[in-house]
Amino acid sequence: MEKEPVRVCVTGAAGQIAYSLLLRIARGDMFGADQPVVLHLLDLDFMMESLNGVVMELDDCALPLLVEAVATSDVAVAFKDIDVAILVGAFPRKEGMERADLLKRNVSIFKSAGEALSAHAKKTVKVLVVGNPANTNCLICQRSASGIPAENFTCLTRLDQNRAQVQIAKRCDVNAQNVSNVIIWGNHSSTQFPDVRFTQVQVGETSHQATDLIKDDIWLKGDFIKTVQTRGAAVIKARKLSSAMSAAQAIVDHIRDWTCGTSGDSWTSMGIVSDGSYGVPAGLIYSMPVRISPGGAYQIVQNLEINDFAREMMDNTAKELLEERELALQFLA
Ligand code: NAD
Ligand code: LMR
Repeated sequence: MEKEPVRVCVTGAAGQIAYSLLLRIARGDMFGADQPVVLHLLDLDFMMESLNGVVMELDDCALPLLVEAVATSDVAVAFKDIDVAILVGAFPRKEGMERADLLKRNVSIFKSAGEALSAHAKKTVKVLVVGNPANTNCLICQRSASGIPAENFTCLTRLDQNRAQVQIAKRCDVNAQNVSNVIIWGNHSSTQFPDVRFTQVQVGETSHQATDLIKDDIWLKGDFIKTVQTRGAAVIKARKLSSAMSAAQAIVDHIRDWTCGTSGDSWTSMGIVSDGSYGVPAGLIYSMPVRISPGGAYQIVQNLEINDFAREMMDNTAKELLEERELALQFLA
């Protein structure tokens, strides 16, 4: 018997990330080859003509799993009974704009999104915030969505994890899939801490510690971290647009793992509400390593050793998030 469709809302659905993402969801990459989907596509009023064109294209793909794609600028329609919300739409940073201005514009968008999720979505909805500043937008959304558990709110740091994984894979001359247990701690920003102290690299039949294979602490603490932290800016400089194809891939990876679970003893990183583990201030949306059970319950990986270098990096990115939270809460008041 055919499964009940999963209802997935994508906001910013006429934008460039969505253009790389929607086909991936509709053809089964996110929920599996036997899972029908209904797409709820939200964008602003003035983007409706363009969004209708995207829906025409989705129709023309003749996809067996796509039950329906609904284009709307009405949050009540977009969030009605949804199982998954992928919040991509956000106010973009414009030239000369201060961080405070960007936060102010986005606080109101993500406050409204939280309220609308609370009013219209299933109480079990899984929420992934992608629009920047992703961690703090997620925090505002979570605090505005009464009745939905805090652990249902996450933000995207999987793109950072994928970037780190690839840097290690290239250095060890293996495929990225042979690199596991990279951690991204903290903010999806240039203060994030990509941590490979526990990373394993599979070479043939043998699994090695990445640090033992690479044997170059100067690179690991220097250029490696810098490359991952600044990769988003490097793509913008080269493309004159922010990452879209790789962001879409990371979104698929994040939701697939959150739905199907992580495998064996491995973990993945997601921005989640901190419970105070590892001395991270409780309540912040902070990227942490998690193990996920099929269905979506996740646990923070505990008892990892935090040395002085890691402590400093983790505190620094927490400090940035505390500052963002303070600014954002001023705008909420
Ligand atoms: P884009 O400008 O191409 O598309 C954004 C779309 O969102 C536009 O169609 C716009 O009309 C829509 N939009 C704006 N406000 C909206 C609202 N209130 N409700 C619904 N739709 C709204 O941008 P993009 O390249 O798709 O990127 C989207 C966001 O994702 C940006 O904030 C970007 O910085 C962020 N991003 C995050 C990551 C990450 O890893 N977390 C990676 C890449 C990009
Ligand atoms: C990225 O990491 O590629 C983006 O978050 C960069 C950006 O500012 O959109």
